[in-house]
Amino acid sequence: NTYVVIMAGGIGSRFWPFSRTNYPKQFHDVLGIGETMLQMTMKRFEQICPTENIFIVTNKDYEQLVKEQLPQLGDNQILLEPVGRNTAPCIAYASYKIAQINPNANLIVAPSDHVVLKQEAFNQVITTAVEAASADDVLITLGITPSRPDTGYGYIQFIADGDQPIKKVKTFTEKPNLELAQMFLNSGDFVWNSGIFIWSVKSILNAFRQHLPEISEIFEEGNNAYNTDQEPNFIVKAYSHCRNISIDYGIMEKVDNVFVVLADIGWSDLGTWNSLYTISNKDEQANVIDGDVMLYDTKNCIIKTPKNRLVVVQGLEGYIIAEHDNVLMICKLDEEQKVKDFTADAKYKK
Ligand code: GDD
Ligand code: MG
Repeated sequence: NTYVVIMAGGIGSRFWPFSRTNYPKQFHDVLGIGETMLQMTMKRFEQICPTENIFIVTNKDYEQLVKEQLPQLGDNQILLEPVGRNTAPCIAYASYKIAQINPNANLIVAPSDHVVLKQEAFNQVITTAVEAASADDVLITLGITPSRPDTGYGYIQFIADGDQPIKKVKTFTEKPNLELAQMFLNSGDFVWNSGIFIWSVKSILNAFRQHLPEISEIFEEGNNAYNTDQEPNFIVKAYSHCRNISIDYGIMEKVDNVFVVLADIGWSDLGTWNSLYTISNKDEQANVIDGDVMLYDTKNCIIKTPKNRLVVVQGLEGYIIAEHDNVLMICKLDEEQKVKDFTADAKYKK
């Protein structure tokens, strides 16, 4: 009864110039280990349920990339969106479709751009969460102990009641400002939302009907089209009048049946240059190097450049030096939030 939905339609704009709209980071071998983020994610879930229960939701532009990287998937397991409308529509589409296959399904919804170092612990946490989700009308997320006041995450305040592995959530705050994030971190009562969700298809559809009825109405209309040759046409129409909203703002912040499982799973969101820097191996000067590089008086830098280009750096501290395709970017590591602005302004988004 367990199904997995992998969301792989984001454009990863904070990871520019590596991540491009026509080749986002989930399709890259970001860690340089011979596997893309999407392939790592798929492998992680193939340990949890049969391959035929795993579905990928992505943009139609990435259909070929998904097929090349995951040849084990059947066509009905690749859900193609005509436009990105953020995670709520993506999850609504997959949930309505899977409900037609198995109305008693339990769903695990996961991003495609994360690292989980402890697979065993991950399997256990997922088992706990799936059991709870199949027994009750609850929405479960995996919570991660925060290490910095990162404003890119959701913050979850939970009720600490002893050793219960599953905690009732008091508040869910998506992407707080820095001041608030710092307060949350100092208080010690908060964990980060990992973005990995577990619920029954019934519970998530209930939540959509209650909190995002305009989206659930759109996708409910497709009940006769899903898993037939009518599905692609229906979906193009559905997305044309679907608004853009994330599951976090649209549902998780609003519902009162959220629970969190504290997950010590070696989790990291490879969303930004800083996150890649943090988890990568460093030289004696704390530089992360991927490329043909000569360094002088340079420390705390992350340098990711093509193998066929010699890069010489002198006297820099705390910089990102990233070259990919037709773009070279040099940016302070602690001002990496500006990368999003560069991608908006730059002529090379693709
Ligand atoms: N199919 C599809 N369509 N996938 C999408 C879309 C879309 O329109 N938009 C985003 N995704 C995918 C991304 O590729 C990523 O794998 C996942 O959904 C999450 O989207 P992000 O855009 O990366 O979300 P975020 O990082 O800002 O925030 C979420 O994740 C954090 C943890 O990494 C939230 O859930 C936060 O609360 C959470 O802390
Ligand atoms: Mg993310």
